[in-house]
Amino acid sequence: MAIRLGDTAPDFTADTTEGPISFHQWKGDSWAVLFSHPKDFTPVCTTELGYTATLAEEFARRNVKVIGLSCDSVDDHVAWSQDIEDTQGIRPNFPMIGDADRTVADLYDMIHPNASDTMTVRSVFVIGPDNAVKLTITYPASTGRNFDEVLRVIDSLQLTATKKVATPVNWQQGDDVIIVPALSNEEAAELFPDGWDEQKPYLRVVAQP
Ligand code: BEZ
Repeated sequence: MAIRLGDTAPDFTADTTEGPISFHQWKGDSWAVLFSHPKDFTPVCTTELGYTATLAEEFARRNVKVIGLSCDSVDDHVAWSQDIEDTQGIRPNFPMIGDADRTVADLYDMIHPNASDTMTVRSVFVIGPDNAVKLTITYPASTGRNFDEVLRVIDSLQLTATKKVATPVNWQQGDDVIIVPALSNEEAAELFPDGWDEQKPYLRVVAQP
């Protein structure tokens, strides 16, 4: 069964490169990014894992814990980490789940048999402090992800979780935002006393609160 937005992220226990974890306990009330890569010792994955490691401060600033997964052993993850350091200049600084028996991959529907019977696709789950799934992304093995985009979406998710706004196309942190349609003009006037640019009654643009 696919995991949908708003679902509670399934809990699990697993071995990782940083020891055994119980997922919900490990995550606590932080945000989390749980992502899968197809296979250790493969080229695109090597670049993805290295780049994600360079973003550690960005994730920490947003109170996000990162955890990786593939259907390889923890021993393979550890051996591969040296290759990642050799080629990308940094080794993974987040736990990587060894899921050789596919328990977690199956739980999160990360194996898409019409793509591959054995390897996980490139899944990303962003999970909120309430353990609800806020975002899912799926890329094929041949296409590396843009982890700057993952950060951008987290900025939007964190903003829109607490303010009555939505973020427009290609929005970046600090750009103008849109007042949610559910808010009446009277309610909006209280929240945005400096006003907004009403381009259509349903398109009210305001400075990022
Ligand atoms: C890669 O990471 O380059 C890759 C992994 C599995 C299949 C194809 C490519």
